[in-house]
Amino acid sequence: MSEVDRETAPAGLTIALNRGRILKECLPLLDAAGIRPAEPIDGSRKLVFETECGRHRLVVMRGSDVPTYVEFGAADVGIVGKDTLLEHGMSGFYERLDLGIGRCRLMTAAPVGADLGHGPLRVATKFVDVARRYYEQQGRQVTIIPLSGAMEIAPLMDLADCIVDIVDTGNTLKANGLEALETIADISTRLIVNRASMKTRFDAVQSFIDAVRSALP
Ligand code: PRP
Repeated sequence: MSEVDRETAPAGLTIALNRGRILKECLPLLDAAGIRPAEPIDGSRKLVFETECGRHRLVVMRGSDVPTYVEFGAADVGIVGKDTLLEHGMSGFYERLDLGIGRCRLMTAAPVGADLGHGPLRVATKFVDVARRYYEQQGRQVTIIPLSGAMEIAPLMDLADCIVDIVDTGNTLKANGLEALETIADISTRLIVNRASMKTRFDAVQSFIDAVRSALP
């Protein structure tokens, strides 16, 4: 849709949602804000859902794609974890609201009792840029080993000395003989807005933000 079409289009919003855990937690919040999918999202293979009010559209996608859809204007707003935003880079959209759900921490972790010394470290993570920046600030020389999931295995297989990953209950670390070390960032779910939509669809965006804000516990 061109920028002109977007300005004349009805004020419905395209809302990008981070599938998985965040989706499960944010659906009751959206429901309380009056935004309900016209058919059940949970368990569906569909990715695009009309809403009961008929104005907004919900699009379910991998978390790391949410900031991209919002940045390029394919979605007006997005709901996604702060960890994903930090890794994507915080430019190209506005972060407007902390939903206070999906709370966890982005941490370093290593095998229980491991001596990581002061020399070069091999760090396995899917948060490649966050980890690189973090260790740069620490003045620590590292080799980042990019993985797409199950980072906890990497130290067990001697692929890495430590990992950078999300820690919630700590059960996954514990089950794999690892312990949390330093906190890199406190994480929660955030609402982000496309920069152009914030101007051209201000009323719709602002009333969506207000509705979600008033639904927060
Ligand atoms: C995340 C993270 C850890 C786990 C931490 O993975 O990568 O593996 O949750 O949670 P805990 O501290 O409560 O055990 P997730 O299940 O989201 O899957 P992912 O590996 O696809 O990110």
